[in-house]
Amino acid sequence: VTIDTNHKKFPVSPSLYGLFFEEINRAGDGGIYAELIRNRSFEDTIIPDRCEVEGCELHSPAGWVSPFEEAPGSIPGWHLRKDAEESKASISLDENDPLNSENSLSLRVELEDVVDKEISVYNEGFWGIPLKKNEKYNLSFYAKKDGNFSGNLEITLENKKGEKLSSIPCEITSENWEKYELVLESTAEEPEGVLAFSTSDKGTFWLEFVSLFPQKTFIERKNGLRPDLVKRVADLEPKFLRFPGGCFVEGFSVETAYRWKKTIGDLTQRSSHWTLWNYRTTNGLGYHEYLQMAEDLGLELMFVVNCGLTCQGRPGEHIPLEDLDDWIQDMLDAIEYANGPITSKWGTLRAENGHPAPFNMKYIEIGNENFGTEYNVRYKRFYDAVKAKYPEIITIWNTHWEVGTETKGLPVEIVDEHFYADFDYYVMYSDMYDTYDRNGPKVYVGEYAMILGEGAGKLKGAISEAAFMTGMERNQDIVTMSSYAPLFANVQHTNWTPNLIYFNGTNSYVTPSYHVQKLFAENRGDIVLESKVETENRFPSFNGGMSFREIDLLNIKAINISSDEKSLFRSEYLTKEQPGTCLEWYGLRIGDSSWKDYTVDMNAIIGLQGLKVRFLDSTKEWQQNYFLWEFD
Ligand code: AHR
Repeated sequence: VTIDTNHKKFPVSPSLYGLFFEEINRAGDGGIYAELIRNRSFEDTIIPDRCEVEGCELHSPAGWVSPFEEAPGSIPGWHLRKDAEESKASISLDENDPLNSENSLSLRVELEDVVDKEISVYNEGFWGIPLKKNEKYNLSFYAKKDGNFSGNLEITLENKKGEKLSSIPCEITSENWEKYELVLESTAEEPEGVLAFSTSDKGTFWLEFVSLFPQKTFIERKNGLRPDLVKRVADLEPKFLRFPGGCFVEGFSVETAYRWKKTIGDLTQRSSHWTLWNYRTTNGLGYHEYLQMAEDLGLELMFVVNCGLTCQGRPGEHIPLEDLDDWIQDMLDAIEYANGPITSKWGTLRAENGHPAPFNMKYIEIGNENFGTEYNVRYKRFYDAVKAKYPEIITIWNTHWEVGTETKGLPVEIVDEHFYADFDYYVMYSDMYDTYDRNGPKVYVGEYAMILGEGAGKLKGAISEAAFMTGMERNQDIVTMSSYAPLFANVQHTNWTPNLIYFNGTNSYVTPSYHVQKLFAENRGDIVLESKVETENRFPSFNGGMSFREIDLLNIKAINISSDEKSLFRSEYLTKEQPGTCLEWYGLRIGDSSWKDYTVDMNAIIGLQGLKVRFLDSTKEWQQNYFLWEFD
């Protein structure tokens, strides 16, 4: 490895590593969004017509059957429980007297004959409601009753065995919809709890929009996020947030497309929608919440807008060009909501929703994975509209299949490139950006992961991604941004594999790729130096960091893709160039200015290591015995 400290290539790109958050794998609902009730407004079984016909298997993992297809007539998340077998009761979805136009269904609980003890209707959450000892939970719901029902309910948090961990009486008083708000405190820890409404009286009552949130959300925001999962992403030290998809943005029809205006304001006024990932999203994690999440994590914002095309050009309902203005206006309004003054229409709404100051959205990505003339013509219309009103917004071309050809003649600032490939691909193309046209658009590697072949989601996959990432680092004058995909998966509902972070209701674990992302993002320099690698294999990947003449830290990212241990570095260049400099490397102290070889072996089993080499000024006494090495 030769590093030319006199040849500073260019400054590092400050936004090289970021997050791509998509509502896929229940990343949002049943994931980072802290709502504990599944199917809170009872619309989960409303399936688009197309799914009725085609089965909606489009993006399901092999063999996956949605719960309501598996158990026809069931109401996802909700169950009836009778203490006595002879009791007669039923639960059903009721479309009469909806709470409002966005909530077409409610739960009707009919208690015909209650023998002896109780009848309960309960919600099991997202594969169990995780409860923590002595923690408080905010419950809210709408209810009404008929004239035969006393209205007396007992509301409980229970463990798996049905033991009550929290109990509160509640009287439904009206035959019209009323809102009820209560706080429940759990007396014990329970990973798979339930929320139950029980009574021993006869009659009928209805429930609607049942919501349960832990009071301890991330920074205790209302309608907030799960702190442990936020920590997982914050630990990656990301610089931007691309949201909310992915194919999620496009859907396969107008009905399944993301429309941000339906996701803001009062939760009960938001419409849920069926996603192409085969579940219904509440949109409780809505446009405003995404903006807030980015602000809370100090991230720049990149909103992906639907440009009127369905996912990857799959057969679907494209928006005809003559109707595109509405969708363009949606995008302009989204920018105004995020960035406009509070005197503007959408800025006023943002302020009413609790955020008077602008969020400073920086990027708009026009579409996702669309291509061809259908895309180009739409791209230009969206681009022109953004630039006419918001010239400061940076636009992103949504995909890049043939370098330089498909963007020809169009104004393009950044292209978003996606790669889902195998080990060899990432190794082979780890130098592809070395020869990219420096006069063309910048590159955002918006989605990538080793997903094909043996080793996907494992260490081998992570090493190949890391090799590819050295190419991004070495060329970050042009590759200015990147994000691994997908970010999250609920282990109970995984549409796509692999992912970076897996979780259930209480815990999470990460893949080796997560450690690569973290290692690379944590170890950033200021300037990329010229570097050369001589190896016996075809794919040297190396990225040099800082000049030690100016600052004291050299970040080196080197990936050993072979199954053998490699000796990577000789220190002669460094000691020759800087006589008298004390070099510490992996705890190896090199204080001698005479020629000597030191080698650092890279362990083939670990395969990837982040190295930091710190140069200490030996004239400063306090540093002489200072021992520093860092290794992840
Ligand atoms: O990351 C999963 C999917 O892969 C995204 O939704 C889409 O953009 C890509 O095809």
